[in-house]
Amino acid sequence: MLLLDGKAASKAVKTTLQQQTQQLISDGKRPPHLAAVLIGNNGASETYVASKVKTCEEIGFHSTLLRLDESITEAELLEKIDQLNNDDSIDGILVQLPLPKQISESKVINSISPEKDVDGFHPVSVGRLVQGLETFIPATPYGMMLMLEHYKIETKGKHAVVIGRSNIVGRPMSVLLSSNLLYGNCTVTITHSHTPNLAEITRSADIIVAALGRPGFVKADMVKEGAVILDVGITRVPDPNTAKGYRIQGDVDFEAVSQKASAITPVPGGVGPMTIAGLMKNTLDAYTRRKG
Ligand code: GUN
Repeated sequence: MLLLDGKAASKAVKTTLQQQTQQLISDGKRPPHLAAVLIGNNGASETYVASKVKTCEEIGFHSTLLRLDESITEAELLEKIDQLNNDDSIDGILVQLPLPKQISESKVINSISPEKDVDGFHPVSVGRLVQGLETFIPATPYGMMLMLEHYKIETKGKHAVVIGRSNIVGRPMSVLLSSNLLYGNCTVTITHSHTPNLAEITRSADIIVAALGRPGFVKADMVKEGAVILDVGITRVPDPNTAKGYRIQGDVDFEAVSQKASAITPVPGGVGPMTIAGLMKNTLDAYTRRKG
């Protein structure tokens, strides 16, 4: 069994980005600049954003963290995004989700300039992804594609089963795996909460992407011998034996499934670090496309 180590694979991506950034600086140019918007104090969001900002520093990107109060109005937030859109020194904008209930997620996503949409959530980015045009690929699916590439996992002609149809992970991943890409060309089945006989479908999968957000959902009897397993789950499960009082658990029963899989991502340390690598690649791409 091959452990798909997201720390190692993301390090390789980050080292390349670091070298490209150093080259820009020695050519007398400014580095790429990511602006992250964090609203309220959701613990998980705080952790993710801190990790994104830290990675920018490691690579040599500029980053700006805009912290806004939970009570901000939609109009105030849209005004802030407009300022970031019009700030020529900023290449990429991400607004960490979820948003407080008074704010419409789709209005916010639509307000980000597509040329700075490093999350790839804007309808223009999604449309371009579906049409196979140059775009920003949402960071988690992008990270998983980079993982497949890093470990040279053969995908052509394979049956990939994606569990979960979210706009952030499942749906874009199903598009990528079915696209005519070096690590694409799969036959894809996208499944969700209304799919009957799910285990029957997953048992025919060569590749399983578990992105439904239910800890330990994928059991060994749902998996074919030799399948490749990508686990996107990152649920905080209460655990009094840890200092923080919780541990992070994936959507896959790792202990049992790893006995059957040919390759599998751990949680943590699998897809998570690759997500950040995907975001960083998008930020450099945003810079390059804007600055030519
Ligand atoms: N919340 C969970 N995942 C993501 C992500 O990839 N980007 C943003 N902006 N928010 C998220």
